[in-house]
Amino acid sequence: MSKQPIGIFDSGVGGTSVWKEIHLLLPNENTLYLADSANAPYGLKSKQTIINLSIKNVEYLINQGCKIIVVACNTATTNAIYALREVYNIPIIGIEPAIKPAALNTQTKAVGILATKGTLSSELFHKTTDLFASNITVIERIGEGIVELIESGDLYSDAMKNLLKLYLQPMIDANIDYLVLGCTHYPYLMPLLIELLPNHVKIIDSGEAVARQTKAILEKNDLLNTSVAKGNCQFFTNGKTEVLASLLDNHFKVEFLNF
Ligand code: SIN
Repeated sequence: MSKQPIGIFDSGVGGTSVWKEIHLLLPNENTLYLADSANAPYGLKSKQTIINLSIKNVEYLINQGCKIIVVACNTATTNAIYALREVYNIPIIGIEPAIKPAALNTQTKAVGILATKGTLSSELFHKTTDLFASNITVIERIGEGIVELIESGDLYSDAMKNLLKLYLQPMIDANIDYLVLGCTHYPYLMPLLIELLPNHVKIIDSGEAVARQTKAILEKNDLLNTSVAKGNCQFFTNGKTEVLASLLDNHFKVEFLNF
């Protein structure tokens, strides 16, 4: 069982930012990545639709023999993780915006969070914010249009820059010192974010924490692949293979799959 792949899914290409952290920490693990780009973005869909799409993705990964599932999508995690854990009895790991470390470490007592409408309106997100950030100012902004641009392969255009300027300005005005990236697509915008934000603003996402959590859960369940060989990494998308491949620096084969 330990040689079976780690199954990872996202609404599209963004979850590869999480896959990269997992692959870095666990290079010997076999992985299977599923990008549901034909249905991206999830962020504007209803909770029930997000649950249905997430079940479809997990069903595919389990049928391929995956030993553990990583939901590399904040919107799917915040809306569907409880439903998925009710249906399936293999370990399922989710990703949530890193509100806690930002709230604990802010000096200006103001943090920004950029995420989808689906994440920011979820019960899970509100619970986390109430628990850890009730005594600071949290400037939330929906990153409308960003996922669509990234899914089309656009990371640096003027259109992207203008959207980011619009969403970041109220955060800059509020003197944030942390920006929390609450969508797994957003780490790909790091060069633009660094350019647009004042130098003192730290940008954090949860990819590395998810990789550490994946390792811990594999160990706990005696599922860690102890092979010394490099893992086999497979990538499937029902969208544009070239966009996914380019985010992997064209180092991996990406296959089209109509799932
Ligand atoms: C989306 O599909 O709208 C974004 C995915 C995410 O929330 O990580």
